[in-house]
Amino acid sequence: MFATVLLLLVALCAQGGNGKEEQEAQRLGHVSVVIVGGTGDLAKKYLWQGFFQLYINQVNSGNTFSFYGGGLSPVDQAIPVFFEILKGVSCNKDVPVERCALLKEQFLRLAQYRQLKTPEDYQDLAKHIEQQLKEEGMVEAGRLFYLSVPAFAYADIADKVNSSCRPASGVWLRVVLEKPFGHDFRSAQILASQLGNSLKDEEMYRIDHYLGKQVVSKILPFRIQNKKFLDPIWNKHHIERVEIVLKETLDAKGRIPFYDQYGVIRDVLQNHLTEVMTLLTMRLPVNQSSNEEVLRNKLKIFRSLQPLGKNQAVIGQYQAYNNEVQEELNKTKEYLSLTPTFAAVMAHIDMAQYDGVPVVLISGKKLDERVGYARVLFKNDIFCVQNHNSVHCKPKQVIFYFGHGSLQYPAILVTKNLFKPVVMDGEWKEVTEHKDVSVLGLPISDYYVQAPTVQREAYSELIAQIFSGRKDSFISAEHLLASWGLWTPLLDSLSSSYPRIYPGGADNANLLDFHLRGKEISYANEAVVIIAPDQMGGPSTDGFQVMQGKYRSADMVSAWAEELVERLAADVQAAAEAAVSEGGTFHLALSGGSTPLALFHRLALYHFSFPWRDTHVWMVDERCVPLTESESNFRNVHDHLLQHVRIPYYNIHPMPVQLNQRLCVEEDGGALLYEREVNKLVNGSSFHFVLLGVGYDGHTASLFPGGKVDGHGDSLVAFTESPAKPHQRMSLTLGAINRAHKVAVLVMGKGKHELITQLSRVKDNPDKWPVTGIRPANGRLVWYIDYDALLG
Ligand code: BG6
Repeated sequence: MFATVLLLLVALCAQGGNGKEEQEAQRLGHVSVVIVGGTGDLAKKYLWQGFFQLYINQVNSGNTFSFYGGGLSPVDQAIPVFFEILKGVSCNKDVPVERCALLKEQFLRLAQYRQLKTPEDYQDLAKHIEQQLKEEGMVEAGRLFYLSVPAFAYADIADKVNSSCRPASGVWLRVVLEKPFGHDFRSAQILASQLGNSLKDEEMYRIDHYLGKQVVSKILPFRIQNKKFLDPIWNKHHIERVEIVLKETLDAKGRIPFYDQYGVIRDVLQNHLTEVMTLLTMRLPVNQSSNEEVLRNKLKIFRSLQPLGKNQAVIGQYQAYNNEVQEELNKTKEYLSLTPTFAAVMAHIDMAQYDGVPVVLISGKKLDERVGYARVLFKNDIFCVQNHNSVHCKPKQVIFYFGHGSLQYPAILVTKNLFKPVVMDGEWKEVTEHKDVSVLGLPISDYYVQAPTVQREAYSELIAQIFSGRKDSFISAEHLLASWGLWTPLLDSLSSSYPRIYPGGADNANLLDFHLRGKEISYANEAVVIIAPDQMGGPSTDGFQVMQGKYRSADMVSAWAEELVERLAADVQAAAEAAVSEGGTFHLALSGGSTPLALFHRLALYHFSFPWRDTHVWMVDERCVPLTESESNFRNVHDHLLQHVRIPYYNIHPMPVQLNQRLCVEEDGGALLYEREVNKLVNGSSFHFVLLGVGYDGHTASLFPGGKVDGHGDSLVAFTESPAKPHQRMSLTLGAINRAHKVAVLVMGKGKHELITQLSRVKDNPDKWPVTGIRPANGRLVWYIDYDALLG
């Protein structure tokens, strides 16, 4: 016992323990493990095995355990299934057979099934735990709840755990959550805030099992230990492209109710493959064991990723999928699912280090083989004149091989024409004897190969980390939202796209091959239409036109969202070119909010000939927060547009909301400063193009109803008050806006339909409806309204 405690203390010091959390983590005593969803598929496949492994590792540590499988079924129905699952657990090869049998018997004795449905069930569970502790005179160390249930049940279960099963202070509570964490940015945000009502952040462990894979967890250590070789080549001058691939042969049968709502992008790209991408590309932390630094560096990657739109993805669906959906969801034969089961997405990271390097993420069900890997393919600058088989003429690559495929085991491979890597610390070895296989086009003998000495299941690894309170391999809320922030616009833009139908397996041949052309990805071959035409439904194609008309007696352009944004972007570029050819510069004033994001993406990704060098970007309005905050309008424009285009720094004009280390204080004269800058640089203080939106209350810029918006006199810039937080704002006045050459008001989404209808009827009354005060004196007002907002 003394030796165990000593050992634990040594381990604690070696990890640089950080006080309370780790002390709790290491406290010996009784641990109750509850798997909610304990007879489900995941529990059956991985979780009970992982907890059995934990039990084996801990059996002599001084900790004691109880294991509870929780579920909605009544006890008598569930018990046979439950024990059948538990009987399936096994020991590693190194455990002698008799010892294994004994451990298994003990494990089964410590386990019980409980119905966990009502608040009373949770109260009974808590009473049971406490009674057991009392009867057996045990000190409690912690309670671990593993929620292996659909995400819609999380908030409710977390609430029950919080109100009935929270242990006494000094005893840890850990709640493990399985993906999916939401469906998109908004739902992830809602889920995070709901969970936050019941659980503290340090109590939540959001699992991405890829982070428990042995090779994935070694990506950063490998990059650090081989820094001297990698530093000179880990950049755009040397890297041709990065590929992160998860190919599967299985289909989605049996999981359709889940899968059909999610599809391959939400199921594996948004989480597993994105995690690998950040590990491969993030800046190396100075202190590898600093969770905060690693997270910070990962977040920088998310911030630098160029927006993803329709043209950065190709999607497919295996042919049998639609029938499976009809059967499992009881749909009619006319029902058509557009859920993709295959996707390839090309991302670009806007950092000097990776400029122009494509990062391709690929995954699909029913492909020709099961394999997962991340490969960094380097450019080969050698021109081989004669012997093309010589090793230096061959592709140069580093491969993080997650498993399966031709190699059948996890490994890190480096081609011999690159460098001889340092072998990882710990349980890794260099592999020198191989079967005769080839890996991604090269015989295995062309690689230096290293692999773990013992293969471990990802879930067992992560369960061990949860038990010891280590959070570095789990997903934080901030990180999760950053990832949804990247994927949500792509998912939205693909929501009514038809996936290419593929037959499955080897028959796919080259149907799913794609091209990478500049910033766009597309299928390389013409589609073979397998689907019967009478099964095609969805949006009609003749609606895709841009319509011109009048709205509130001004010009109006209307179309479906995507075409509308295309048109607006083209109009902005035309205005820019005209202004530059006439006077040498183009002055553009931009609004914040989410509506213009699609326009920013369009400009950043498609308008390569836009005269950014001669464009000055101004802000229409700003919230009184530091410009670096995510709420700042400038930050929005910066992240989604400015950092992706080549605009000179001195042409960018954020509003000076922060002066003298304080925000929007009248005496600091921020509004006046901005006005002077406009007067100094903009001819006649007339912007060439002002982009506005309109809020549900009729506000535009930061001019809100009841704010005496007509009362700013000759001022161009003013401090204003918003009814929503942050209340303080800086805004161009109606006077400034009405001096512009062109004013565009962009309105999109069904949510704005009612407002558009109402506005079409009201008279000009800027105090009540500030947007009705837009009447450019010598310029032109154009409303850009999408069909959703116009027609509802
Ligand atoms: C899961 C997905 O998260 O990952 C599955 O939901 C997918 O659809 C699986 O099959 C792949 O994991 P692994 O470990 O088999 O590569």
